[in-house]
Amino acid sequence: MKIEKDFLKDYDYKVSASGRINLIGEHVDYCGGKVFPAAISLKNDVYVKANGTDKINIKFSSLPDEVTLDVNKLGEYKHLKYAKYQAGSAYFWQQAGHKVIGADMYYDCNVPFGSGLSSSAAIEVSTIAALATIAGEEFDKVEVALTAQKAEREYCGVNCGIMDQYASACGKDEMAMLLDCKTLECRYVNARFGDYSIVIINCNRPHSLVESKYNERRAETEYALEYFKRYKDIACLADLTVEDFNAYAANLSEPYYSRAKHVICECDRVQRSVEALEKGEMRKFGELLNASHDSLKNLYLVSCDEMDTLVSLCTAQKSCLGARMIGAGFGGCAIALVKTEEVENFKNAVAPEYEKRIGYAASFYPCRIVDGITAEKL
Ligand code: GLA
Repeated sequence: MKIEKDFLKDYDYKVSASGRINLIGEHVDYCGGKVFPAAISLKNDVYVKANGTDKINIKFSSLPDEVTLDVNKLGEYKHLKYAKYQAGSAYFWQQAGHKVIGADMYYDCNVPFGSGLSSSAAIEVSTIAALATIAGEEFDKVEVALTAQKAEREYCGVNCGIMDQYASACGKDEMAMLLDCKTLECRYVNARFGDYSIVIINCNRPHSLVESKYNERRAETEYALEYFKRYKDIACLADLTVEDFNAYAANLSEPYYSRAKHVICECDRVQRSVEALEKGEMRKFGELLNASHDSLKNLYLVSCDEMDTLVSLCTAQKSCLGARMIGAGFGGCAIALVKTEEVENFKNAVAPEYEKRIGYAASFYPCRIVDGITAEKL
């Protein structure tokens, strides 16, 4: 939304948190694996001011609805359709001992909903950062991310890993994050792709059942973990190497075999991708993106026809070294590694063919890699 000057008079701060892409390392965060996300310039902006009451009044740029939360009853809003991410985030922040005061908050979310770019994490993280800012509190971004994840899991019912909230909070300008989800150790790596650029494309498939399918995958990996614990003293699937998998997996039944194979091989691809990127080996990095997509499609079963069509149209272009779905799956976005000078031609080739085959258009999102949380005094 374009924000008018007059509107800004009603608020004291603009606090924002980012959506994210994930270069590689999909469906491994909740298995203790390493992921490789980056915060993007599609953000959720919260315009906020303290209002001297014990009520949080919420408005949205995308909806006519207004919601009021009582700061003394923040645990009671799980049934809300729109503001439960806000309520859950405020609730767990308060539960952790932080001050949550009455506020007027206006949400302008520029992360497309249901796109696999983590609009919910951006909303959760920016809510906490906004509440901490008006309470005059300095906050630790990692604590914000962990609290936001708790809200998503325990308030909104998605048993997610830490990748999205961490990237949304802790992202850095032009950096990707090699985040170890077991230890939360994070190494920032230059997001430089030589003569290539990352193009983000939404297949625009209407979402359904993502949350239940996501929770199901997670449960399947937990079953597989119990199996491998009989063979090796491990805390998470990511503790296994590809060699371990080959040595021990023979008696593991489907679908657990395929799910575990994806997780363990994807962790290996993350490692190889970082090495390839740091050496400037873009062709190799592109191959790893393709292998990740194949595995998500054939072993983890979280892709869909629309996404597979999009990814194969991308990789059929000479200018594209690799492409894959990102995020939870079942629709949402893909990333493609495309020769920078060919990006327009690439879009002009992929867009009409996708629309012809699927019956509706894909969306391309131009954006940059930026800082996660930002706060500005208005
Ligand atoms: C969603 C979850 C993340 C992660 C990805 C898949 O985005 O919120 O924690 O599991 O799916 O990599």
